[in-house]
Amino acid sequence: MLIRPNEQVVPVRGRLGLYRRYLRQSLAPETVADFEREARQAFSVAHAVATLSGTMALTLILEALQLPRGAGVILPAYTYFGLPGVLERAGLVPIFADVEPVAARLQVDRLAAAELARARAVLVPQLFGVLTDTSAIRRALGDHVAVIADCAHASLVGVGPTVASRAFGDVAFVSFDRVKLLDTMRGGMILLPDGPRAEKIKSALPALPPQPVARTLRTMLLYEVEAMIRHPYCYSLLGRLLARPQTMDWIRRQYRRLNVRSKQGDYRLSPLQAAIGLTRLREAPARNARRVSRVRLILDQLAAKATGTRERQYLGEVERAFVTAAPYPSSLVINVRSPEVARRFAQRLGFELLIGSRVAEFFGGAEPHRFPGAAHLFAHAVKLPILENVNEDRYRRFVEKFTAWLANELAPFPT
Ligand SMILES: Cc1ncc(COP(=O)(O)O)c(C=O)c1O
Repeated sequence: MLIRPNEQVVPVRGRLGLYRRYLRQSLAPETVADFEREARQAFSVAHAVATLSGTMALTLILEALQLPRGAGVILPAYTYFGLPGVLERAGLVPIFADVEPVAARLQVDRLAAAELARARAVLVPQLFGVLTDTSAIRRALGDHVAVIADCAHASLVGVGPTVASRAFGDVAFVSFDRVKLLDTMRGGMILLPDGPRAEKIKSALPALPPQPVARTLRTMLLYEVEAMIRHPYCYSLLGRLLARPQTMDWIRRQYRRLNVRSKQGDYRLSPLQAAIGLTRLREAPARNARRVSRVRLILDQLAAKATGTRERQYLGEVERAFVTAAPYPSSLVINVRSPEVARRFAQRLGFELLIGSRVAEFFGGAEPHRFPGAAHLFAHAVKLPILENVNEDRYRRFVEKFTAWLANELAPFPT
């Protein structure tokens, strides 16, 4: 049976038992405050505010920053597809910047003077858990630019205050979506480190009531239906079309849009979601450690098998990004000659890879020459499955065979 990346986060078996436990815990309304308190400690920040999604967290941050209409916000040309829409809905103008072609870290030094002059905020991607030092970005852009860290992918539980202060900028947000490492089925959080801008944002945030449990149950039901449709037995009943990842993505996007329109911003997490979040926070250190060892396994095998000088140099860059600069990587991204061929080969070995816009979206379509790093990633990146729940032997067998093939298919950025 094909192992899909998302199925590993909440294993299907045993979910009903978990829900029963969560429901019991969620009867206590203080669970949301408990979750925020534990998150504050886990992320080493002064304040943590639970929201209904990462998107909602960003929306609330932008409102609290009170930027003038039409102000420019710098964001990567290669990132999550939904971000430009959030800025536009807030009356702000996206200014796309290129990213480096290994782990999509933001490169603000290539922006034109006119673009820099318009910028009032920057969205720093901590994509795949690979960290960019936000203080370097702040130094490059100046203090008048608010630094917002997009930590949707980053499972930075227990990194300690030094890493946290570099990672979170003036304000950060995380996503607790079902496919993320820390999931509350759907949810997010605003993280506010110590600092004058963070204090201002905190005081401008609205005090939102928890989402009614009935709405949370509706979301859970939707995810269960999705899990059922993805189940192999259902493929034959509903046909391959519905089970195609692209179709499911489309349905999920429509559902999210509906949710955003239906005033998601009126609520924060429900106690039921917070109960799930508390469990996830406590599990995170052990899961992070397992993920690090799986990233190591893949990189060691690749390093042993790659022969070309440029290929070995590229693997050194990947190691510096996904090991040195990612205390807890959420995934491992490798550039290959043909992502589609890589996907088919991995499928034959029983594992699904994410490629193309399922890794991230490219926003420089009309002028790819202005964003060479982003264009390279979009054309070549594959997201390898770093699945800590999969049986160790099965995973090792996959890594052994897949890296033997991959070592000859690497696509380093042309120098
Ligand atoms: C990099 C990035 N930023 C922001 C978001 C938005 O988070 P959410 O799905 O919780 O709204 C996502 C979601 O996948 C993401 O990948």
